[in-house]
Amino acid sequence: MKPAAEVIYFDNAATSWPKPPGVAAAMTDFLERVGANPGRSGHRLSIAAARIVFRTREQIAALFNLPDPTRVIFGANVTEALNLALHGLLKPGDHVITSGMEHNSVMRPLRALERRGVELTVVPCAGDGSLDAAQVAAAIRPHTVLVVLNHASNVCGTILPVAEVGEIVRARGLLLLVDAAQTAGALPIDMQAEKIDLLAFTGHKSLYGPTGTGGLALGERVDIRRLDSLKQGGTGSRSEREEQPEFLPDKYECGTPNVTGLAGLSAALDWLQERGVASLRAHEMALCERLLNGLQDIPGVTVYGPRAASRQTATVSFNLAGLQPSEVGLRLDEEFGILCRVGLHCAPAAHRTLGTFPTGTVRFGLGAFNTPEQVEAALRAVAALARGH
Ligand code: ALA
Repeated sequence: MKPAAEVIYFDNAATSWPKPPGVAAAMTDFLERVGANPGRSGHRLSIAAARIVFRTREQIAALFNLPDPTRVIFGANVTEALNLALHGLLKPGDHVITSGMEHNSVMRPLRALERRGVELTVVPCAGDGSLDAAQVAAAIRPHTVLVVLNHASNVCGTILPVAEVGEIVRARGLLLLVDAAQTAGALPIDMQAEKIDLLAFTGHKSLYGPTGTGGLALGERVDIRRLDSLKQGGTGSRSEREEQPEFLPDKYECGTPNVTGLAGLSAALDWLQERGVASLRAHEMALCERLLNGLQDIPGVTVYGPRAASRQTATVSFNLAGLQPSEVGLRLDEEFGILCRVGLHCAPAAHRTLGTFPTGTVRFGLGAFNTPEQVEAALRAVAALARGH
């Protein structure tokens, strides 16, 4: 396997890599020096493990401006968090609104819920993936309970107007669930200011933690008596009872947690705080702008999405005339050492909106560790493929 320095890793929208210094060390340190199960036993190592989990909870709460860290529910990934929110909140007869740019982590639970009597409205997006918040307002019905929205597209980076929809949703007394898979750590997120009631996040993308980490942050308007748990089991609390505890976070967290992963995520969050989300965003915007401009100058290249760094994350989708995305991806890997993702990116709805279904696109997902030199090398590689070399 080539070391990181010898490949150009442009697949950060799938998972970020490399990870910041300190992440692997924190995970090794947990395994070698702590190792115990948090919240189960009273001994010193169990307490040390519980401290790691709680500190990570506090870091996540601070990052998203959530006053109560116990309202951060950890889980395996953003998909699990979205499933918890959607299956936990929506009951037969309820109406839910979403957009035409969603990932299957939202669409598949919603389609399953539709079969159980939940009514769904998909508000269409424009050809660049953008959403008109007024159309969300127009879709609200008397029995609407929830709006679920992708913060930014995993296909082409389009940022959706979450805060604007948050105003509308709040004024109508509904809840707003945001899929922040592509934005947690990449864009500043303030759950209070943006009126986000439930925020599903992943640890392994722009938070720069390991895979197997993520969760759901619950704003203060979410009444946990109305949010059913997805799973039940041991919590280390109220062990005399056979019913799931009703308090946070134990109502939603059971079984031994991924403390190794959370130790890594905690170290990643330290790094993120030190670098600052705003400065990382500025770095990615600069790379994205050059990539967008450079790609659009290459004859035969079509770029999808807003094509403006300020209106998207640093995720860029394109196609090359006469070449299948899979062929482009394979040649970029084999001939140029450029690693990206091609196809439908688990988001057929978004590709239908962009007009790229069923072929899909080639996707470059940039991250904190990419450089201007890598962007120039990628532009030369795409230009060579476009020329037929
Ligand atoms: N949803 C992730 C992606 O877009 C895995 O690649």
